Amino acid sequence: MAKIPEPILRSLKVVVLLLCLGPLMVLMWKATHDLLGANPVDVITRSTGRWTLTFLLITLGVTPLRKLVRIPSLVRFRRMLGLYALFYGTLHLMTYVWLDKFFDVQAMLHDIAKRRFITAGMTAWALMLPLALTSTAGSIRRLGGKRWQRLHRLIYFSAAAGVIHFIWLVKADLKRPLTYGAILLLLLGYRAVSSAITRVRSRQTVPAASA
Ligand code: HEM
Repeated sequence: MAKIPEPILRSLKVVVLLLCLGPLMVLMWKATHDLLGANPVDVITRSTGRWTLTFLLITLGVTPLRKLVRIPSLVRFRRMLGLYALFYGTLHLMTYVWLDKFFDVQAMLHDIAKRRFITAGMTAWALMLPLALTSTAGSIRRLGGKRWQRLHRLIYFSAAAGVIHFIWLVKADLKRPLTYGAILLLLLGYRAVSSAITRVRSRQTVPAASA
């Protein structure tokens, strides 16, 4: 097992924190330089939507990656990445509520009733909220490790709702949403296999220990 020294880990966290702001900086730069094309709201909606899903999948990838490369301290990046998923998801939602619908509740309700992909998106976003609210060390202590882990499985449902949202909203080319879906399935598969292996191993060690 490789161990990253604490000062390097802290500096790396700052680097990752700044890198994660990159997509927002690019959007802001393009917006201030009139580079968002004929429909800037559409570009902002699509970009923030994609980054939300991307951050959700990156967050889900942290555990497999840290096991594959045998660097346990990579887990220290997971919370930040998950919070960025919510951050971009909230920017995405605000773009819709503010720049697209101008806070017109009637129009939004009409949209929810008429376009099922909006409901899937709202679900994906809402599922991220309890995760962000319980992402602190204090919450893990209060809830207990097992319950906290169970609650945090919601991230898979949020990502799945995000993929469904994407599949439902595209009209023709399904390549991109299906790519996100395939990555999510791969991550789910990894999780299923690794927990099956853990269960088998613990069944093998319990009788050995009692013997
Ligand atoms: C909070 C509620 C949400 C609303 C109201 C919403 C709304 C929208 C709208 C109006 C679009 C553009 C559709 C079009 O151009 O035809 C869109 C695109 C998209 N949204 Fe959402 N969304 C929400 C949440 C989410 C969440 C949580 C995710 C990710 C997990 C997400 C991922 C995406 C993606 C990937 C796209 C497509 C980007 C592309 O076309 O390349 N959305 N969303």
